[in-house]
Amino acid sequence: MAISVKSIKGTQDVLPSESHKNRFIEQTVMSVAENFGFKEIRTPVFEHTELFQRSVGDTTDVVEKEMYTFLDKGGRSLTLRPEGTAGAARAFLEHGLFNDAMPQKVCYLTSCYRYEKPQAGRLREFHQFGAECFGTQSPAADAEVISFANEIFAALEITDLKLYVNSIGCPECRKNYHKALKDYFKQYEDQLCETCQKRLERNPMRILDCKSPQDSKIAEGAPVVLDFLCEECSDHFEKVKEYLTLLNIDFTVDPKIVRGLDYYTKTVFEFVSTSIGAQGTVCGGGRYDGLLEELGSQHIPALGFAIGLERLMLLMQAQNIELPAENGCDVYIAAMDEEALKEAMQIALDVRGQCLSAQTDIVGRSLKAQMKYADKIGAKYSIVLGTNEIESGKAELKNMQTGEKMLISIDDFAEDFQQIILQDEMKHLEEMIGE
Ligand code: HAM
Repeated sequence: MAISVKSIKGTQDVLPSESHKNRFIEQTVMSVAENFGFKEIRTPVFEHTELFQRSVGDTTDVVEKEMYTFLDKGGRSLTLRPEGTAGAARAFLEHGLFNDAMPQKVCYLTSCYRYEKPQAGRLREFHQFGAECFGTQSPAADAEVISFANEIFAALEITDLKLYVNSIGCPECRKNYHKALKDYFKQYEDQLCETCQKRLERNPMRILDCKSPQDSKIAEGAPVVLDFLCEECSDHFEKVKEYLTLLNIDFTVDPKIVRGLDYYTKTVFEFVSTSIGAQGTVCGGGRYDGLLEELGSQHIPALGFAIGLERLMLLMQAQNIELPAENGCDVYIAAMDEEALKEAMQIALDVRGQCLSAQTDIVGRSLKAQMKYADKIGAKYSIVLGTNEIESGKAELKNMQTGEKMLISIDDFAEDFQQIILQDEMKHLEEMIGE
């Protein structure tokens, strides 16, 4: 009977035929992370609601409208993480990582939850690769973090992405900027959505990233923060741009980027694609020099970014970027009878012990059906075991692609087979080098 319970709106299953693509992306991203000296951190999927209210900011869309918040049986308000920075910062402080050599560079692959209107590239459960660098205020760190994201895209051979950078200053520059924004938006107060009317006094910058079309239109004419930077923030931004140029990273200054989370200060940036529709921001990040203090520590400047993995996958599909094929079955060991099956099960285990993949008949199929199955799962090689093979101690190993056959010892099968696979790989490498 068909299952009547469906997946939750805005969530996605990754099926076995697709999951190797995700794994390839995750492994690529983690190996770039290693080259940049970032180490993985894992934090819980839920945190105290207050953590997100204080870090992401209680006048942001994320906190006001999108969090999955619930009371646990002990009456505590908990929230499924809408992003990874707050949890990483909490763990950094809670475990005293600031006592180790700075900067501390951490990264994570994590699921996130936001109650948003689902559409292509916008989900309620999505996944991020994020990186956070704690304990440096140097503009060189901003450039390095941007370069890190840039290298991830290069490693995945993604070309269609534009990098936009901006500076949204520090609390000092914000004072004048907020005043200018208030003066501007006051003229349109009645036309703003209800949420933004409330934001006008408390946090006028949030009106700039409101998703309501009417508010976005009004925001187009608002003053831009770059015109209000203090000397220090302005110098910092100049240096970041200088280092980016030095590293040969193309960028465009977009004074309209403010980002949707309250913790940002100074540099903010986004990598945007035009080939995946309205949700084109694949990566977003920036500096958050005040966040750790907000969470109760001494002043520890920090910065980071996160890449949305579903958007990354959409982009790779849109660009027809081929991902390596799934690592299938190295050898299928067919068995003609019960005795042969026992031998096949033992050989399969030995082959797996050599870090190769082997399968045998755990269904009870006829030989013909077993061979059909071996074909279907794309086995590279097959052997058939029956009374003759077991008595003689030898069986024919068949290359399923070329049809070539060779006699191989059953007793030493695993070791000999490993040599054959190694030779195949060498041949493949030589062919690639020769091309
Ligand atoms: P964010 O811009 O909110 O920043 O999210 C980062 C990325 O996550 C986005 O660029 C997008 O690719 C992906 N994303 C966000 N929402 C969704 C959604 N509903 N569905 C699918 N993908 C989505 C942050 O989360 C910050 N914590 C980034 C950061 C780290 N800043 C400093 N450190």
